[in-house]
Amino acid sequence: MNILGIPMDLGAGRRGVDMGPSALRNAHLAARLRDLGHTVRDLGDVDVALPETLDKHAGAGLVFLDPILEACRATAEQLAALPGDVFPITLGGDHSVSMGTVTGNALRGNPAGERTGLIWVDAHTDYNTPESSPSGNIHGMPVAHLTGLGDADLAGLGGGWSLRPEDIVMIGIRSVDAFERDLLREAGIKAYTMKEVDQLGITRITEETLERLGDVRRLHVSFDADALDPTVAPGVGTPVPGGLTYREGHLLMELLCESNRVTSLDIVEVNPVLDTRNQTAEVMVGMAASLLGQRIL
Ligand code: ARG
Ligand code: MN
Ligand code: MN
Ligand code: MN
Repeated sequence: MNILGIPMDLGAGRRGVDMGPSALRNAHLAARLRDLGHTVRDLGDVDVALPETLDKHAGAGLVFLDPILEACRATAEQLAALPGDVFPITLGGDHSVSMGTVTGNALRGNPAGERTGLIWVDAHTDYNTPESSPSGNIHGMPVAHLTGLGDADLAGLGGGWSLRPEDIVMIGIRSVDAFERDLLREAGIKAYTMKEVDQLGITRITEETLERLGDVRRLHVSFDADALDPTVAPGVGTPVPGGLTYREGHLLMELLCESNRVTSLDIVEVNPVLDTRNQTAEVMVGMAASLLGQRIL
């Protein structure tokens, strides 16, 4: 198991998620995983430019496009160079880091070009393009770029690789912008909103998700802390009421663990500046532990 931090808040509208990797390490992520019997190696952090040293709008009108592109490229390269059988855990950082993590994990130890599935656990679909985005913040755009839409450089991070919309399942959704909704529909991406979570329950949703991605061998889980209800995870920059409960989050991770099919994980959008005594980092470390083998009995 390898841990890699990407201390970046350039894609978010509020400052502070660059401290996410530290907060998660402080919440004893590595020790929790070692207690479960895993061999854990911390690879440290990817280099990310400091916003104070930068010009906000250098690059195609998108906020901090160039330094985000650079950090995502470095992340993708570092992950792609890891052996196929390690399990990388990447720590954000804002959710734009996923353009690097999903790409790097899709290419890692994959000479045959097997498909990668993406399980996107989030309040948001993050399917804006530069044109559809109301905020201009790149953390609202990573999934669109992973499927080849939007800015050509961000969409081109995979060199010719991009994610197939049918290999994506989103869970926990409750905030989608107007044009973003149209794009999501056009792409045909499956999204379980909180309405479906209430109606069907996490067990059925997880079963359907695993069946839908049944012929995809590599599964990446990208867990945005704001998928959880803000009472459970208050330390996030874009909180939305009505999220996953503590147990729904754990049950999802426990069931995904039992499937034995997940091959990599992101934990993103933990914002220590907005948090209460590192609660959100601690909760997210617990989620990672459930995905990686923690059982009640
Ligand atoms: N939809 C909004 C936007 O595009 C919010 C995105 C929030 N994304 C996140 N990764 N927290 O600006
Ligand atoms: Mn997100
Ligand atoms: Mn979100
Ligand atoms: Mn955010």
